[in-house]
Amino acid sequence: MTEKRKQVLSCIQPTGDIHFGNYFGAIKNWVNLQEEYDCVYGVVDYHAMTMPYDVKKLRTNTWDMVFSLLAAGIKPDNLFVQSLIPEHAELCWIFNCFTSFGWMERMTQFKDKSSLSAQKSKDSFISVGLFDYPILQAADILIYKADFVPVGKDQTQHLELTRDIAHRLNNSVGKEYFVMPETLYTETPNIRSTADPSRKMSKSAGEKHYIGIFSDEARIRKQVRSAVTDVGEPDKENMSEGVANLFELMNAGDAKSTADNLLQDYKAGSLKYVDLKDAVGNVLVELAQKFSTKRAELLENKREVKDQIKASSEVIRKQAKETLREVKDLTGLLIPKS
Ligand code: TRP
Repeated sequence: MTEKRKQVLSCIQPTGDIHFGNYFGAIKNWVNLQEEYDCVYGVVDYHAMTMPYDVKKLRTNTWDMVFSLLAAGIKPDNLFVQSLIPEHAELCWIFNCFTSFGWMERMTQFKDKSSLSAQKSKDSFISVGLFDYPILQAADILIYKADFVPVGKDQTQHLELTRDIAHRLNNSVGKEYFVMPETLYTETPNIRSTADPSRKMSKSAGEKHYIGIFSDEARIRKQVRSAVTDVGEPDKENMSEGVANLFELMNAGDAKSTADNLLQDYKAGSLKYVDLKDAVGNVLVELAQKFSTKRAELLENKREVKDQIKASSEVIRKQAKETLREVKDLTGLLIPKS
C-alpha cells in the first residue's frame, strides 16, 4: 500500500498582479510542491474583505488571481476559491469561541495594519473582520488538516495561533482531533525592489518597485536596465544589495551557470553591469512570455476555465464539509441531514 501523501495548503489574497517577488518567493515553490504532496491552494476572497475594499472589483480580482496562478503552473484540480467553500467561515465562527481574546490582542499584523490604515485615511475604518482574520486563516488551514503550510516568515505568528486553537479545541473535546500543522519554510529567495534594493519587491510601494510576471518585454528591460546597482565605487568584498539582488534574480530564474560566470567576472573586477542587467532581463522576459502565453490561452476559454475552478472547488469542498461535520459533532452542535 502506498502511504498517503502529506497535505500541503496555502492561500493568497486576490490583490491584482503577481510580481517576480511573489513568484520566486512563493508561487514557484507552490508549483513544485505539487509533485511531492497533496496540495490545495486557495484564493481567499473572504480575507480580502477585511480592509475597506471596492465591492465592484473584488470578484474580478479574484478571477484574475485564479487565471494568474493557473498560468504560473498551479494545477486547476488543486485550486479553490474561498467563497465557494463557505464552511471556512462557519469553522471560523466555531474557532472564534475557542480563541482567547488575549491571544488576539498580541497579533502584530493586526496592530500594523490597523495603525497603517488609521494613518492613511481620515475615515479610518478598522473592521472586526481584520481583527478576526488570523482565526479565519486557522480555519483555512485546519479544515484541510494540513500537515505543511508554505508561508513567509511574516506568517509565523498566525501559524502559532493556528496551533494554539487546535490544542485548545483538542483539549476541550478530549480528543487529539487536529494534527498540528507545520510551517514549511523552504529556501526561497528574498527579492528586492530594483528601484530601491533596500526594500522588498512589493506592489504597495508603487509601480517602480515591482516587476509583474505578465509584463511585456520592453517594460521588463526598462525596469531592469534602470536597476540601482552601486552607489559609488563597487566594493568587491561587500556586494551591494542592488547587485546581489540582480544575481538573486538570475539564480531564482534557474540561470545559475550564467550567473556563476558573471560572478567570476564580478570578482575579477571585469563585470559590466549592463551585461548583468541584460542577462537578468533575458531570464525575466523568457518567463514572462511563457506565463503570458499560457494566460492568453486560458483567457480564450474563460467560461470553461471558470467552470473548471468551480468544479474543483466543489470537490475540495467535500473535505471541508467532512471536517466541519466532525467538528460540529465534537463540539455539541447539531448536524444537518446529508
Ligand atoms: N495571511 C496570508 C497572507 O497574508 C494569506 C492566507 C490566508 C493564508 N489564509 C491562509 C496563508 C492560510 C496560508 C494558509 O499571506
